[in-house]
Amino acid sequence: MCGIVGYNGKNQAAAILIDSLKRLEYRGYDSAGIAVFDTNVVEVYKEKGRIVDLEKTLPSISGTVGIGHTRWATHGRPNKVNAHPHTSGNIAVVHNGIIENYQQLKEKLSRTGYEFVSDTDTEALAHLINHYYKDNLIDAVISALKDIRGSYAIAAICGSELVAARKDSPLVIGIGEGENFIASDIPAILKYTRKIIFLDDLEVASITPDGVFFFDTCKSPIEKKINLIEWNIEAAEKSGYEHFMLKEIHEQPRALHETFAGRISELEGNISFEGSNLTESQIKDISRISIIACGTSYNAGFLGKYLFEQLAGVHVDIEIASEFRYAHSSPGSLVIVITQSGETADTLAALREAKSSGCRTLAITNVMGSTVTREVDNVIYTRSGPEIGVAATKTFISQLGVLYLLALYFGKIRGKISSDQMKRMLVAMKMLPAQITRILNNKEKILKFADTFSSSSDFFFIGRTLNYPIALEGALKLKEISYIHAEGYAAGELKHGPLALITKNTPVVAIATKGLTYDKVVNNIKEIKARDAPVLAIADEKDSEIEKYVDAVIRIPTTEDILSPVLSTVVVQLLSYYIAKARNCPIDQPRNLAKSVTVE
Ligand code: AGP
Repeated sequence: MCGIVGYNGKNQAAAILIDSLKRLEYRGYDSAGIAVFDTNVVEVYKEKGRIVDLEKTLPSISGTVGIGHTRWATHGRPNKVNAHPHTSGNIAVVHNGIIENYQQLKEKLSRTGYEFVSDTDTEALAHLINHYYKDNLIDAVISALKDIRGSYAIAAICGSELVAARKDSPLVIGIGEGENFIASDIPAILKYTRKIIFLDDLEVASITPDGVFFFDTCKSPIEKKINLIEWNIEAAEKSGYEHFMLKEIHEQPRALHETFAGRISELEGNISFEGSNLTESQIKDISRISIIACGTSYNAGFLGKYLFEQLAGVHVDIEIASEFRYAHSSPGSLVIVITQSGETADTLAALREAKSSGCRTLAITNVMGSTVTREVDNVIYTRSGPEIGVAATKTFISQLGVLYLLALYFGKIRGKISSDQMKRMLVAMKMLPAQITRILNNKEKILKFADTFSSSSDFFFIGRTLNYPIALEGALKLKEISYIHAEGYAAGELKHGPLALITKNTPVVAIATKGLTYDKVVNNIKEIKARDAPVLAIADEKDSEIEKYVDAVIRIPTTEDILSPVLSTVVVQLLSYYIAKARNCPIDQPRNLAKSVTVE
């Protein structure tokens, strides 16, 4: 995810900006840049690729105020033109987040004579600040922010003024002696100061060498508390979390929010995608969809199958990528490949195979500029931000987010869902990030179950229909990070064989949310309890019946039945994480596994 740094003080800015940016490298990025105010002008330097590539191109730069950025592309390809900072006149801006109404702003600003050179949403912000600029930067920034819809953390300079602001994207201010700092994350500036102020949403800061002044968006002054940081750099990179996996699980509300940003308009009941050029008549003509993927992405695709079939009335074949190319069946008229990395060799091989049979292709991926994006007809980005833990978590949630959007979008065009249904679903979807946060804030019971059963050698995860793919994902998560043998099963299938393995030593996680198959899952739970296995149910917070049948219940907030798999996922992820932690496993780098599997 993008990183921001800023400096105003007694020392030369460029070296501090580069050094601080390097400490944000762990967040992932594809281009980098800095802007420094040197006597009369703002000088901007940026490059595609690594910070060291940028560093090599830098002349000797003088100037004691500046901003820097590492960009992880969301709008526009990862290249030098799209890299930040973006400028307008003497103003330079860096930005994290997504400006949802940038297209409208761009049209408006173009009409008043501003010229756009990049494909980014951020450039609209730079011009907008310039548009409002009269004699000081902070007023111009405050006015510009009032016109913006979306999420942002920004830093802007104009002359010797440095201003920062945030909404839904993190930003911290570092307090030094005769110098002050801005950063997306504490590790970037921990070398220079341990005194940190956390900027909150809709707050603006003016950073001078001798002080930092905080305001709300009406320019009323705000008092802020200085926090003394006691972490070391390594812990700080994980923002205090013990593992990247746990950090990424906690980033899921934000990841899902970004997945939906600018794509949902719940009032009108509309969904739009920026990267898909599928026309309405092509969507109406789809006779069959093939979804192809591996591992966790396959599990997301499996849920996608249910979604497209229920919401859009189109049959879906779900295919394991490494098997697909040897199958002799022909793919559907639309092939959807799902790959977090965009580089999975099995998925790319299957995509090429599918393309050779002439079908349309669409990729759901997290990585802009990855191989898959260059080979498919349409791309939809998950926008989860970089994922460092080998076990996919937030990217899975975002893949589900995209699949819900796509299935609803197809359903509307194909006349399978009414506009009222659509609006209801979109309103419920927008509540999911906050509902995930509730689960994350309430994990004691999950921890307790994890501790009790961490020494088990076998686990089962069961669910029916929409919950079956989540059972598969729960089992995959558990085995990859805890090395416990785990099976995901369709609950109704247990009695056809695996029930022979169920004993008091095989804990079973039953996803028993309300819906069409609830009663049947309860019957399956009774069959398991009759064999003395401990059962943990994942159930709706309003379900007063389930605890009669099981040993422990983890409640999830009430949502539309069809959306509950998103919430159940968070429970199985946390359960796997805490079991692996209790077993002292190397959670972020499990043995034998790689984040991106580029061999077939
Ligand atoms: C998930 O936790 C795994 N590490 C793995 O199954 C992964 O989902 C799979 O290798 C596919 O990767 P992709 O999404 O990058 O294509």
